[in-house]
Amino acid sequence: MTDLVLTRDPGADPAADAADRWALDADWWRQAAVYQVYPRSFADSDGDGLGDLPGLTARIGHLAGLGIDAIWLSPFYPSALADGGYDVADYRDVHPQLGTLDDFDDLVAAAHAARIRVIVDIVPNHTSDLHPWFQAALAAGPGSPERARYIFRDGTGPDGSQPPSDWVSHFGGPAWTRVPDGQWYCHLFAPEQPDLDWSNREVRDDFLTTLRFWADRGVDGFRVDVAHALAKDLSEPLRSKTDVSGLNVPLDGSDPLFDRDELVEIYGEWRRLFNSYDPPRAAVAEFCARPERRYRVALPTSLGQAFNFDLLEADFDAEAFRRVITFCLDEVAATGSSSTWVLSNHDVLRHATRYALPAGTDLDAWLMTDGTTPAPDRARGLRRALAATTLMLALPGSAYLYQGEELGLPEVADLPVDRLEDPIWLRTGHTKKGRDGCRVPLPWTAEGASLGFGAGPGWLPQPAEFAAAAATAQDGVEGSPLEVYRAALRLRRELLTEERLSWVETGRADVLHLARPNGWHALTHFGDVDAEPYPLPAGVVRLATRPLVDGGLPGETTVWLTEGPQA
Ligand code: NOJ
Repeated sequence: MTDLVLTRDPGADPAADAADRWALDADWWRQAAVYQVYPRSFADSDGDGLGDLPGLTARIGHLAGLGIDAIWLSPFYPSALADGGYDVADYRDVHPQLGTLDDFDDLVAAAHAARIRVIVDIVPNHTSDLHPWFQAALAAGPGSPERARYIFRDGTGPDGSQPPSDWVSHFGGPAWTRVPDGQWYCHLFAPEQPDLDWSNREVRDDFLTTLRFWADRGVDGFRVDVAHALAKDLSEPLRSKTDVSGLNVPLDGSDPLFDRDELVEIYGEWRRLFNSYDPPRAAVAEFCARPERRYRVALPTSLGQAFNFDLLEADFDAEAFRRVITFCLDEVAATGSSSTWVLSNHDVLRHATRYALPAGTDLDAWLMTDGTTPAPDRARGLRRALAATTLMLALPGSAYLYQGEELGLPEVADLPVDRLEDPIWLRTGHTKKGRDGCRVPLPWTAEGASLGFGAGPGWLPQPAEFAAAAATAQDGVEGSPLEVYRAALRLRRELLTEERLSWVETGRADVLHLARPNGWHALTHFGDVDAEPYPLPAGVVRLATRPLVDGGLPGETTVWLTEGPQA
């Protein structure tokens, strides 16, 4: 009897072999270009004004053509949308207006067929107040096991009418709300987002079930919302904490709410679950505390990777970029993780607009002027945005792109205030507009009720200028943001190499020059558009975000070069 041969001849079917290699690659996340989809604003298949999963599935071709490696889906779960879906009422289903679990499976299948991985957003710090657990907690009353899943406390003051502590919500106002029986519950975000108590084993087990639910459906990775805040010091008396910036927390893990040492234990358990899959599921923490401590959640024994928003927070300035890049790469070199890079997401002003404003502009105050004061220099913002993005795409690590940035979309700063949905607007007593301006539905075509987003108007109105930025209007137009992104993402795949870079000294304070180990170079001129061009070193120009000037690199421009003789 002959032995049964269980291994396939690798030469037999090269296409199938490549597909297997893709499917089994455990390190795909390390240098992935990840595109964030905010589902409600991406594409609306049924004309109800809300983007949905079938709308996204129908546009996978756009994403494949763009050249990204993965999509990260912001929450698509059942939710009353008190915080754009980050108030989850059921972690194992799809919001009925966004589709069904079958639609989700179709999306994953279509994405995988196009060799695009899928990352879903997990929101473990808080549920929706409509989650069955919170409803049960309200019904069950003080001291019950139902309340013990959340953070309920008696109030202070003679009649308990004052909050249990001075903790404040990220969205403004106290982080405590009183319920009819007199107790208070903690919510670091909106009152509709009660915080869970992660010292409760039942909470931990339930999230393991949720993670397994999505991993079993073929999800490749998880983005972990507010990953720095799950563990809390709830010992009495509750300690004071009024600063929600996260940047001032002590370095020894002793803050009552952020970046506590117990996180390591929670995420260690998640990692063991992720590693039970082949390939292991990836995870990236949203980590808003001291950068020096980020490594703890990014260890291979923990989530594996952490967002850093350092580049996003940096001015468009050579020295600032170099400092951030060097810090982040040193940090990951010591941990075995790979760096993340982000310039825009659903929580911040789009970078094409940030860079259109003078450095140091108070962005919240600027939004309150409907984006008029100071006046943005749109053309400059776009030049700088393309230069910064292509520099980011040349870095070792994974680059996160936010939907619409490939169209060069600006922030919509003058949305009618009666259309604003961000809880920040309400919770700050209408003194901060919040984040709706970067969540406006995408323009796909230059005409149509919502510029191809859907058959009817979208949930937020699009400004007239979105028509010229529509995907079809930029398709094939040389130098358009869309074509620059496509070229950069295509080349990035071709040029990818070891996760290292070296700086080449330029002798200029406004020009950065980095080299990757395979002879791929990126140079960015951070000076003004009319600053002295920088003479390029020898090599083949593979990409330039703007035309060169007499063979030199003009201001607000990035160029990619490969070593070798000019063609
Ligand atoms: C971070 C998310 O990115 C943001 O959109 C949300 O409001 C908060 N976490 C609360 O979940």
